[in-house]
Amino acid sequence: MWLFIISCSPQHQQSTFANAGPVAQLQSNLYYLMFWIAALIFILVQGALIFALLNFRRREKPIPGSDFTVPDIPPKQVHGNTKLEIIWTIIPALILIVIAVPTVRIIYETYEPPENSDPLEVVAMGHQWWWEFRYPDEGIVTANELYVPTNRPVRVTLQSQDVIHSFWVPQVAGKKDTVPGNTNTMWLQVDEPGNYSGQCAEFCGVAHARMRFRVIAEEESDFNNWLESMKTPPKMDTSEGYGLFLAHCSMCHSIDSYNNGSYEKELTMQDERWDDWYFNQEESVRVSAPNLTHLGIRTMLAAGQKDMTKENLIAWIKDPSEFKRGTRMQSVASVYKGGPAKLEDYEIEAIADYLLAQIPEGWGAAKSGGESEEEEEALVWNTPEEHGEYLFVNQGCAGCHSLNEEEVIVGPSMYGLIDRSGDKVAGLTAEEYIYQSIVYPNEYIVEGYPANVMPQIFINLSEEELQALVSYLKTIK
Ligand code: CUA
Repeated sequence: MWLFIISCSPQHQQSTFANAGPVAQLQSNLYYLMFWIAALIFILVQGALIFALLNFRRREKPIPGSDFTVPDIPPKQVHGNTKLEIIWTIIPALILIVIAVPTVRIIYETYEPPENSDPLEVVAMGHQWWWEFRYPDEGIVTANELYVPTNRPVRVTLQSQDVIHSFWVPQVAGKKDTVPGNTNTMWLQVDEPGNYSGQCAEFCGVAHARMRFRVIAEEESDFNNWLESMKTPPKMDTSEGYGLFLAHCSMCHSIDSYNNGSYEKELTMQDERWDDWYFNQEESVRVSAPNLTHLGIRTMLAAGQKDMTKENLIAWIKDPSEFKRGTRMQSVASVYKGGPAKLEDYEIEAIADYLLAQIPEGWGAAKSGGESEEEEEALVWNTPEEHGEYLFVNQGCAGCHSLNEEEVIVGPSMYGLIDRSGDKVAGLTAEEYIYQSIVYPNEYIVEGYPANVMPQIFINLSEEELQALVSYLKTIK
């Protein structure tokens, strides 16, 4: 019983009565207008009904001096009374006009932010079952947590990659559908800093109810700080988790969208991932997935299922479907193949540590008064081959390419690579062929293996690192 009453509190975080911005206020005003008109009509109609029931009820009149009664005479009938019929046609029409005029006006007012208001541009993209948020003017892509400045309109362009979803932040604005192939717009504005919960409001498949998100409103200066941070690399982390992440997760999840030009790249990648999956659902090993850049500063996990803690993250990586029925991680990624992750516990923990360390350099320093700088680990290699061996593991190559003749993990084994690389492409030496295949994985696809599986990120390695990898791979035989 008490639970019901609590759920009715206007201060509940998903209440449409706890307005936190002008759009929600407009919608509430409209609601109250209709509510009070409806309440007045209810009282008048019920009053007339009760009046009629009491006054015109059937009464049998006793005949004086006998045991018999006479039936009541029916009241005066009004059927065919033109005057009354005109009145009860005109009154509802007037009521509808009184409701329709402000409704239509407010519907249009929720489309576009006020003129001359310098809105922030955001694209909200619905995916099964998470939200992608893009900031086209800033070149930022993130997922499930939408940062906005307070007291500034935000124009939200609504799109969908797969099916119809609906963008709804009960305290702030919405709901409005994201429709594949069609672009809708709306705007929102938040008065006070804070977290405002959002929810997909259109049934979109198995995990519809688990497609939540959060609007994080911050003062202008804090918001600008966030924008800046999203373009700042994390403190470089060459942990074991990095290699594991590259090997098992990076086909679907981007993690380095702080670089210049990464915005366009991510948009293209996301479309490619989707097409790859959509047109070949049985065999594809990738599908569009949330951008994980600076995951360490996120507050929630798996589109709002749990708080972002190391414990939850480990459980999530280990067996995502336990957490969120419907997620495509396990049916798509090779590392799961339908079951829990085929990784050791310490490997999962390493990935979680790596992900949680994705925090922009200097993040929170302004507030907490500076972090102590850890010493950078200096790595020294005696030969390029040694350096290459380190990179092979550390960059995740070992996650997909075995070193022995028999075993195939995901991509071709590296065994005897140098001996079979010389005559692959006319005009390329074996070394050049290996080098090209690392930098442009889709250039020369080995027969029997699909394209677009190897991450196209090794182009970011330095010349020295690439040469070291080639030198090392030459030794595998
Ligand atoms: Cu997306 Cu419901």
